[in-house]
Amino acid sequence: MTFVDKKGSPFEVKAYGAGDYSHLEAMYDSFSPKAKFQGMPPLKGETRRKWIEKLLDSGENLLAWREKRVIGHVVVIPDTRLEDGEFLIFVHQTDRNLGVGTQLARSVLERGKDLGLRKIWLMVGAYNFTAIRLYRKCGFDFYENPGGPERPMVIRL
Ligand SMILES: CC(C)(COP(=O)(O)OP(=O)(O)OC[C@H]1O[C@@H](n2cnc3c(N)ncnc32)[C@H](O)[C@@H]1OP(=O)(O)O)[C@@H](O)C(=O)NCCC(=O)NCCS
Repeated sequence: MTFVDKKGSPFEVKAYGAGDYSHLEAMYDSFSPKAKFQGMPPLKGETRRKWIEKLLDSGENLLAWREKRVIGHVVVIPDTRLEDGEFLIFVHQTDRNLGVGTQLARSVLERGKDLGLRKIWLMVGAYNFTAIRLYRKCGFDFYENPGGPERPMVIRL
């Protein structure tokens, strides 16, 4: 799907495909800040590559592209036994606040519905106001307040 960002520039959202790995790795190599969001994306190159591979192996991965550059990545890791999934999203710092994360999130939520998931959950830093704004806009709600630095949110599909 092709979308237009808040500045009028197009970007595409597509399922991760064979041949995309080096582009995704390049996004995370230059991602900033690293290790700030529950330790993600990991700081050390080898740990980061293993983390990317684990997400690719275990989840439904969508990428946002501008021409040949990956600018965002969203993943839902389904637990088909529980009919739920964990949600993670990262947009490169050069492309934040342009609506890319919103379109990635909406696209992966549709994918979750197609997979038969009933709910999707995530953990967000209590002061990550940009992420909280994005999640609320897409329909996530806080569902309890354990009082720590991170808060759980959930959306029922
Ligand atoms: C969180 C993240 C994925 C959002 O992606 P994005 O492409 O910037 O998101 P969007 O532009 O679609 O939406 C961001 C929204 O937050 C709003 N926003 C920006 N700064 C804000 C702030 N300080 N307080 C409240 N809202 C803010 C924007 O105005 C926008 O809302 P709007 O479209 O209603 O105006 C991206 O910032 C990111 O990758 N951050 C680092 C990693 C991270 O935090 N991941 C999530 C936790 S694991």
